[in-house]
Amino acid sequence: MITRDDLVALDTEDPLADRRALFVLPDDLIYLDGNSLGAQPASITATADEVLGEWRSDLIGGWTDRGWWEMPSTLGDRIGGLLLGAEAGQVVVTDTVTVNLFKLLSAAVRLRPDRAVILVAESSFPTDRYVVDAVARRTGHEVRVVPRGESVADHLDESVGVAVLEHVDFRTAEIRDLPSTTAEVRSSGALSIWDLSHSAGVMKIELDRSGTDFAVGCTYKFLNGGPGAPAFLYAASQHLATLSNPIPGWLGHADPFAMTGTYAPDPGVRRFLTGTHSVTAMRLVDGALDAFEGVDIVEVRAKSSRLTSTFIDLLDERAAGLGYEVVSPRSAEHRGSQVTLHHVEAPAVFDRLVSAGLRGDLRSPSLLRFGFAPLYNTYVEVWDAVEILRGAASG
Ligand SMILES: Cc1ncc(COP(=O)(O)O)c(C=O)c1O
Repeated sequence: MITRDDLVALDTEDPLADRRALFVLPDDLIYLDGNSLGAQPASITATADEVLGEWRSDLIGGWTDRGWWEMPSTLGDRIGGLLLGAEAGQVVVTDTVTVNLFKLLSAAVRLRPDRAVILVAESSFPTDRYVVDAVARRTGHEVRVVPRGESVADHLDESVGVAVLEHVDFRTAEIRDLPSTTAEVRSSGALSIWDLSHSAGVMKIELDRSGTDFAVGCTYKFLNGGPGAPAFLYAASQHLATLSNPIPGWLGHADPFAMTGTYAPDPGVRRFLTGTHSVTAMRLVDGALDAFEGVDIVEVRAKSSRLTSTFIDLLDERAAGLGYEVVSPRSAEHRGSQVTLHHVEAPAVFDRLVSAGLRGDLRSPSLLRFGFAPLYNTYVEVWDAVEILRGAASG
């Protein structure tokens, strides 16, 4: 039997305990929704003041004197180095996950002109499926959907050109093994594009080492970049010279200020830029990343697994028979930083949870998702959350 004191002790021994003070969290709320929108970093007001001050004092000069122009790539390199296992020159921060996936998929299918199929998992976040369908319609590709629970390898053959895959299932938190799946895709002759929105910042990712071709991901979830923060895009260096951006714009031009009427792409990953980026939004992402400096991502993953396992164990011990059913994998090895519960009265339960001070999210009609952000969630919060869940189930 787990006790609340056990969890107090775990918090005391937690090597990441000092990180929580880097975030602003209301006293009367247990926030288990960092998988949707990360918490606000305590330093972010100063970061915002700084960039607004630069705009005030430097005006247009900020673009050249304050590193504003380079931000998509300097911030991309920072995320790549800290969290994605990507050498510099392969990541940019720009646009949204949806737009970046459209850009990469449109470019990737042209690298496999003899292959007529785009593969996508049925379980993928809806926006990824919409993009796959839209690109296929434009290019005449066929879409092959990998049914929920089936392996990608069983659906690969010489007709598949590109596979679009989600690293951590947004609904269930099930992990699709990135290195082995990438290797399978690659050995079939296809290219892989990974959506890392639910894995970046909570587990070790080694894009270069695993031979991943392309990836996209959010910065507003576990990276805490703020609502609507811009997304990242990774394109492996060996492909860069041959990729063409379907929305070419002046920011991605090799010589933007030449102002020529003919497009010539930047030689590197900046070719995936389109229009002018939001410097203020990017600076908030940059400021939020400070919380990851000096942190071993292996510790982050260890705490994430322990938080989610403790939550499941406590539900088994203390909330059995109350209608909650764990939908996420029970093995921590296969589970991301989220636990999804099924409850037939999920919408009513959700309202009671919010009133009692527990914030997860509702995926109607019957799923409740709880995200665990290892940089700021504590073990005691897991205990208190389960107590609230017990009360909310009984009406
Ligand atoms: C897995 C996944 N992919 C894509 C998106 C959409 O990202 P964006 O709104 O930046 O296009 C989300 C948003 O929550 C997501 O969870």
